[in-house]
Amino acid sequence: MLLDVRDLHVRYGRVHAVRGITLTLGAGQVVAVVGANGAGKSSLLRAILGIEKTSGGSVGYDGTDITRWSASERVKNGLVLVPEGRRIVMTLTVHENLLMGAFNRRLDAAVHSEIDGIYDRFPNLAARRDRLASVLSGGEQQMLAIGRALLAAPRVMMLDEPSLGLSPILSAEVFEHIASLGRDRNIAVLLVEQNTQRALELADHAYVIELGRVVSQGPAEQLLSDHKLIDAYLGHGEAKAGHSEQQRPVR
Ligand SMILES: Nc1ncnc2c1ncn2[C@@H]1O[C@H](COP(=O)(O)OP(=O)(O)OP(=O)(O)O)[C@@H](O)[C@H]1O
Ligand SMILES: [Mg+2]
Repeated sequence: MLLDVRDLHVRYGRVHAVRGITLTLGAGQVVAVVGANGAGKSSLLRAILGIEKTSGGSVGYDGTDITRWSASERVKNGLVLVPEGRRIVMTLTVHENLLMGAFNRRLDAAVHSEIDGIYDRFPNLAARRDRLASVLSGGEQQMLAIGRALLAAPRVMMLDEPSLGLSPILSAEVFEHIASLGRDRNIAVLLVEQNTQRALELADHAYVIELGRVVSQGPAEQLLSDHKLIDAYLGHGEAKAGHSEQQRPVR
């Protein structure tokens, strides 16, 4: 397994946000993590990246125990996160934001040809290459965040609610790009989404988490057909659809 998370715990003082989550992700696989607000999804991803302290459990990556590695070592080795809220730098241009993604590499011809590849993939970014990122629409910002993460040469890309605040058309576009990561580039994807329906349609395997624990898991197709489960834990996946990121608390 490329990613092997075992019995992971995250605590914020008295809040026990992640309570013993075990999950695996194989090379080229798309695995979804779904669950309601506050379930612990972002905490889980942040802990896997190493930017949130864990209070128990382990993270294995490509056969190595990386639990004690710093986040930058993890990124250098191809484990990246597109965070909730994207974290685009609005005062930099589109191109400068992309270059930031390659911070851990030498800016050689290979990087520049990858940037050209990203512009080919996302023509809206190419057209705005020298504009400030603040002119981009929400969907374009999400694509910039994905493009930036691609420049870190990921083997595992974790995405935290990439469709948040996007119109259905833009989120469909973003989901299509995510699907192509696994399909065309053999990048394994760990996808956190509140749009349960979409996430399950895209994923090979899925985990449902509630209050920091895995309450169900299986082939995504199987979970998708389990209406009782969807009703019980998830609503119908559009819960945050009209919810723009500006309204979300800054943590
Ligand atoms: N920095 C923090 N300090 C204290 N509590 C936190 C912190 N970050 C998250 N929490 C709490 O931990 C729990 C899990 O939060 P987390 O953000 O991981 O959930 P989530 O599943 O990503 O939710 P959402 O769908 O709203 O993004 C929540 O109860 C939240 O209030
Ligand atoms: Mg979250």
